Amino acid sequence: DPKTLEKWDKEYFWHPFTQMKVYREEENLIFERGEGVYLWDIYGRKYIDAISSLWCNVHGHNHPKLNNAVMKQLCKVAHTTTLGSSNVPAILLAKKLVEISPEGLNKVFYSEDGAEAVEIAIKMAYHYWKNKGVKGKNVFITLSEAYHGDTVGAVSVGGIELFHGTYKDLLFKTIKLPSPYLYCKEKYGELCPECTADLLKQLEDILKSREDIVAVIMEAGIQAAAGMLPFPPGFLKGVRELTKKYDTLMIVDEVATGFGRTGTMFYCEQEGVSPDFMCLGKGITGGYLPLAATLTTDEVFNAFLGEFGEAKHFYHGHTYTGNNLACSVALANLEVFEEERTLEKLQPKIKLLKERLQEFWELKHVGDVRQLGFMAGIELVKDKEKGEPFPYGERTGFKVAYKCREKGVFLRPLGDVMVLMMPLVIEEDEMNYVIDTLKWAIKELEKEV
Ligand code: LLP
Repeated sequence: DPKTLEKWDKEYFWHPFTQMKVYREEENLIFERGEGVYLWDIYGRKYIDAISSLWCNVHGHNHPKLNNAVMKQLCKVAHTTTLGSSNVPAILLAKKLVEISPEGLNKVFYSEDGAEAVEIAIKMAYHYWKNKGVKGKNVFITLSEAYHGDTVGAVSVGGIELFHGTYKDLLFKTIKLPSPYLYCKEKYGELCPECTADLLKQLEDILKSREDIVAVIMEAGIQAAAGMLPFPPGFLKGVRELTKKYDTLMIVDEVATGFGRTGTMFYCEQEGVSPDFMCLGKGITGGYLPLAATLTTDEVFNAFLGEFGEAKHFYHGHTYTGNNLACSVALANLEVFEEERTLEKLQPKIKLLKERLQEFWELKHVGDVRQLGFMAGIELVKDKEKGEPFPYGERTGFKVAYKCREKGVFLRPLGDVMVLMMPLVIEEDEMNYVIDTLKWAIKELEKEV
């Protein structure tokens, strides 16, 4: 019964990215089933999943076609190893991913989560230079406020002090450029060609003066986990040009942005960028099963070819790498994109989101509103004029999210940034309901302070 489940949840289950002392003092959501954009908890209460279950759901929960793909594969075999052998869905999916990704990305290496897709890109890039016989490459260039996952390699290339500060002594060497959004806001008040030029100059100065750079790594178009901080237009493209000019590698992390979230299948398309590595996760299975992928070029792949005794091969792979069920549902996910014309239908919704987000500027406790495609962040502040944040310990973002919960909207903020990351399949009236509810909940803050 629900009460026992709640008790056992608090007693046995240590939740990720969760302060368990606070969690155990609160009433928590325990989900039981879902359909479309809706989730139901163990009391039968209904919620719109307005964060796509941590940004991965695409076509809705309990989708008949995705369910079928899992069931069909389940009746054949759930898992077989890909270490030195293969399986049918993993092959078909690899081919499909190569077809839909930017030109030049011709090889697919599987893993289970976004962080690992990044680990793989980091290790491959580092190992690539070794296999090429180039010595002394051991520094990555990354951005402040970056988030690439929570494993130690991914943390090394991350830049969010709250998540990374603790582990400082364990991390490898990086050079950090400023977070483009924060830099531009501070210096120019907005995203503009001048700030793009400044940042690219800073990058070029580093690339020009050093021989030890393995790769430049960045998220695609927006620093999502930092609170939805978009890049100035042309930045990604400029970085690609410089990495080519100075013969270094570029890793683009599309874990959050991939699979339609920015309005195109991948954000790279919008800037005509084809990186050396592209990391994918989250939406790859439509939010069904843990799967991720690192796509790379023939140039990188070929550097790992050799006779067995040369030991040039990539020593990486997990028990569940290229899992049969996960790859089947990922294939079906891509088919649904075509059958339901998901990206086409998304365009008016992006427009609606943009229009409606403008309304938030009027609210007393909203300091900034940011959007890229179907991803949005609304930053709460205590004092708008002074740009003063709410104290960290007050958990204002969570308070607002809990208010929304009362009205059947499920949100998880990033600090005091309210995140809207709705499943691509959401209908316009459902979007309006989510937005109205969030607006109401933020207005409620005015009563408190
Ligand atoms: N790369 C990017 C650009 C991401 O946004 C994420 C996760 C990852 C990699 C890692 O993927 P994963 O290993 O989780 O599959 N800590 C925040 C949520 C982080 C946002 C998720 N992004 C929170 O507590 O809400």
